[in-house]
Amino acid sequence: MRYVTLDRVVPGMKLAYDIMDDDGRVLLGVHGKITSTYIDRLYAYGFRGIYIDDEFSEEVDINYPVSQRLRKKGIDCLKKMDIDGCRQVASGIVSEMLSNPNISLDMQDIRTYDNYTYAHSMNVAVLCTAMGMGYGLLASELAYLATAALLHDFGKLTIPEEILNKQGRLTVEEYQLIKNHPVRSYEMIKDREDLSAHVKVAVLYHHENVDGTGYPRGLVGEKQTIYTKILHVADVYDALTASRSYKQAYSSFEALEYLMGNCGSLFDLDCVILLKRYVPLYLKGTEVELSDGREGIIVENSGIHNLRLVVKLMNGHKLNLLEPANMNITIVKSQGKALGMSENTEYNRRSMLLEEAGRL
Ligand SMILES: [Fe+2]
Repeated sequence: MRYVTLDRVVPGMKLAYDIMDDDGRVLLGVHGKITSTYIDRLYAYGFRGIYIDDEFSEEVDINYPVSQRLRKKGIDCLKKMDIDGCRQVASGIVSEMLSNPNISLDMQDIRTYDNYTYAHSMNVAVLCTAMGMGYGLLASELAYLATAALLHDFGKLTIPEEILNKQGRLTVEEYQLIKNHPVRSYEMIKDREDLSAHVKVAVLYHHENVDGTGYPRGLVGEKQTIYTKILHVADVYDALTASRSYKQAYSSFEALEYLMGNCGSLFDLDCVILLKRYVPLYLKGTEVELSDGREGIIVENSGIHNLRLVVKLMNGHKLNLLEPANMNITIVKSQGKALGMSENTEYNRRSMLLEEAGRL
């Protein structure tokens, strides 16, 4: 399978998985061939790309790290703001991920604008669990972390969609409303005696920065728990790599670069290194253009291939960028997007990201 941006999807392509709406209804089934009507619908729902199956990419296998059944249950529980259900889903995420020796975090964002917060919380729970596993947390501790990740934006679920998805600048009142969401989330769970203090603290402080410039308390890194620091990093990574009505998605490479560049001020370095262990710089199955003009899809990206990929070229040959003869070849475009950064693009990117960080 491979990821194709919507502008490159053409009728006749075969979808690699079912696309469902928030209520679990199949919008487009895995066995169906894509038609122009479906492409229009995908645009209308806010998708930016889909995974397709074809002969060229049949060797590439990408799966969401937990089952579709569990993902759907998680989104259902989040929609209903069902705390007990979220705790069960958190345990399910931990047991499914602990039983999978090869966790792949290669899947690109496949959510719609409408289900952003639900899909975001589910993704953050998966990212946090992977990072917590890398940190060596026990299963019970991983469950605290996954629960906090599912509940961290509960306070946002009560904010009108028009404000959350607003294009352009927020008013001061709207910004304050959004900024207050960690406190709202905390208030919604603080009296639950069956929830660990680790969960409540991580939810309340998930927007705290390690240099004390975050909110609501301005807590420095030494005063933050590992749950808080992991959740903060996973939350920002997933928000940056999502496309929203007011911004384009950042590639994994761009998001990781942003996180790494802000270690010590916004993020804890060890937590960013943990994330980097599980999230590839370039995701498998995505189209790339190389500096020698050739194009292909990424078929190997882990371990030592994280930066020097194996690319399957359009003629079917594989190109290993780790081989000495290929070392001078670089990736210039990923999914049709140029990767080179001029001083100007870097300035624009940083200012956009900083603005984004205020409304996560
Ligand atoms: Fe948040």
